[in-house]
Amino acid sequence: MITTPEVDAYLASLAPERSLLLRRLEREAAQEEIPIIQLPSVQMIRLWLLAHRPTSILEVGTAIGYSTIWLADAAPQASIVTIEMDASRAERAQANIAEAGMAGRVSVIQADATAGLPGDQTFDCLFIDAAKGQYRTFLDLYLPRIVTGGLIICDNILFRGLVADPSQAGKRLRPMVEKLRDFNDYLRNHPQLETTFIPVGDGIAVSVKKQEPGSDA
Ligand SMILES: C[S@@+](CC[C@H](N)C(=O)[O-])C[C@H]1O[C@@H](n2cnc3c(N)ncnc32)[C@H](O)[C@@H]1O
Repeated sequence: MITTPEVDAYLASLAPERSLLLRRLEREAAQEEIPIIQLPSVQMIRLWLLAHRPTSILEVGTAIGYSTIWLADAAPQASIVTIEMDASRAERAQANIAEAGMAGRVSVIQADATAGLPGDQTFDCLFIDAAKGQYRTFLDLYLPRIVTGGLIICDNILFRGLVADPSQAGKRLRPMVEKLRDFNDYLRNHPQLETTFIPVGDGIAVSVKKQEPGSDA
């Protein structure tokens, strides 16, 4: 949490109406301590998708399909590939996405996303929300599959505010927090990306893939 509890509660009260399914997934995630994206963050992503209108989205880190359903709803024209390594979560995501009536355009792949994605499909949008210590691996692996002008969205880049001051993190979290800090530097300095860092939810980075120098693409 990088805002105050009062601000978070207030922002949650401004959240748009959501389906019974999304509300059920929020309850299940809370009960089972499954991390899912925060509402103010997903609202912001929703607006970007409504404006950007991607036709293909790659999501890394599905969990039980909560964010996937939000993405699919905000981009009704898009096909979505989403990767989740945990077999039981991937199975639940598949069932939840089917319940949302979105199975026809969402493929849930149960795999370790660090192994890459077979084929050569390209995407207009990449959403990274899996193991925080591996964000750079995910970005390096999938950036070549993102079209010029495509959006790259990364969640939790401020991780409870600890990324701003890793010395506040306990021993267990500190390596991961430091990796996220390195990742933010990497994004900031990446020659192919224009990035902004937004203190909403747990922190989101949104980048646009720029045209490579000397390329007409
Ligand atoms: C924060 S949760 C995803 C939440 C989901 N995006 C949402 O907001 O509803 C991160 C998920 O990434 C998965 N994960 C972690 N490392 C992964 C990897 N290398 N490949 C695929 N999935 C991974 C975890 O099992 C976990 O379910």
